[in-house]
Amino acid sequence: MSAADQGVAPVICIVGARPNYMKMAPILKAFARHEPPIPTLLVHTGQHYDAAMNDRLFSDLDLPHPDINLEVGSASHAVQTAEVMKRFEPVIESHGARAVLVVGDVNSTLACALVAVKRHIPVVHVEAGLRSGDLSMPEEINRLVTDSISDWFFVTEPSGRDNLLREGKPASAVHYVGHVMVDNLFYQADKLDNFETGHFETAGFKAAHPRYGVVTLHRPSNVDDADTFARIGGALRTVSEQLPLIFPVHPRTRGNLDRFGIDLGPRVTLVGPRAYMEFLNLWKDASVALTDSGGLQEETTALGVPCVTIRENTERPVTVDEGTNVLVGTDADRIVEAAGRAIQGQSKQGRRPALWDGRAAERIVEILARELCRAATC
Ligand code: UD1
Repeated sequence: MSAADQGVAPVICIVGARPNYMKMAPILKAFARHEPPIPTLLVHTGQHYDAAMNDRLFSDLDLPHPDINLEVGSASHAVQTAEVMKRFEPVIESHGARAVLVVGDVNSTLACALVAVKRHIPVVHVEAGLRSGDLSMPEEINRLVTDSISDWFFVTEPSGRDNLLREGKPASAVHYVGHVMVDNLFYQADKLDNFETGHFETAGFKAAHPRYGVVTLHRPSNVDDADTFARIGGALRTVSEQLPLIFPVHPRTRGNLDRFGIDLGPRVTLVGPRAYMEFLNLWKDASVALTDSGGLQEETTALGVPCVTIRENTERPVTVDEGTNVLVGTDADRIVEAAGRAIQGQSKQGRRPALWDGRAAERIVEILARELCRAATC
């Protein structure tokens, strides 16, 4: 139910970039189901804007059209963050807000949390407490700052709670609820069971290759440095000699592949970014996923697909401790060796972490409804 319909201040929900959408979709559904109604306002900052990175994902995820789009677009981190702040403040001024709910760790998460806290609006952080310990990652800075100014914390794994308590957050504000991204994954996987997939651009690849691997890479530390990207590219080329690979390429990565003249060879199929269902249709049946994505580390753990993470660290340690994820860094031999184990069916078995059961959003909205009442805003 929209805020305007209700005549009361909404919980303003923020999305900005691709990995936010799949987390927000189940939260909005849970808000919509809640009794008594809690009005929401969906604000899209416009950090991601391409059809491939944005529009097709929205329709796939059954995410409602944003109530407001701030259309900030791409820029340096400073300019992008500042632009979101400048454009978001008037939204709070004109609509009011009982709380601002942010997800994940992108620049839009940080920017909107900062605006809210300075206007004394409570900040709700979903997927709080994750720490890679690596301040060279922009997302780590976003996570640290957002958590330092949030009021309520919803965590996806035990490390999230441990980190927040170590940083001095009160236990009563930290809630281990499971993972909204897994809520969405289960919902979409069910939908996919009865979905016509023949029209997907990647259907031909899948039909032609009974066994294959999926690649995603977009972290600046992996794709912005020519030597590092060339080393990873060499490893992918070697892996592809044993197992054909398909690589939906993020715009940042595509630009650098061309700029650095990296040739991944004939057995790595490059395609543009895929919408959620089509990408799920690929990776759920892959022999291995090779990635630097945070979300895919978790989604592969949730469905038991082997995952080789091309990073030195992870802010999502439960995927390594309990799930199918192995961290290999950017050393070519280690990437090839870990992929080889998966190809031979010898990668480690994992289990699904506690509360990754498809009901996290429901728990969040229940807790939030209670907390908002306690804070006397209901
Ligand atoms: C952002 C997030 C990252 C997330 C990723 C998922 C931050 C700091 N980073 O990184 O955590 O994992 O999204 O994709 O918020 N571009 C387009 N079209 C778009 C968006 C971007 O072409 O719709 C290009 C632009 O050249 C832009 C570049 O991609 O400069 C990077 O985009 P940006 O939003 O700055 O960061 P991401 O690398 O996408």
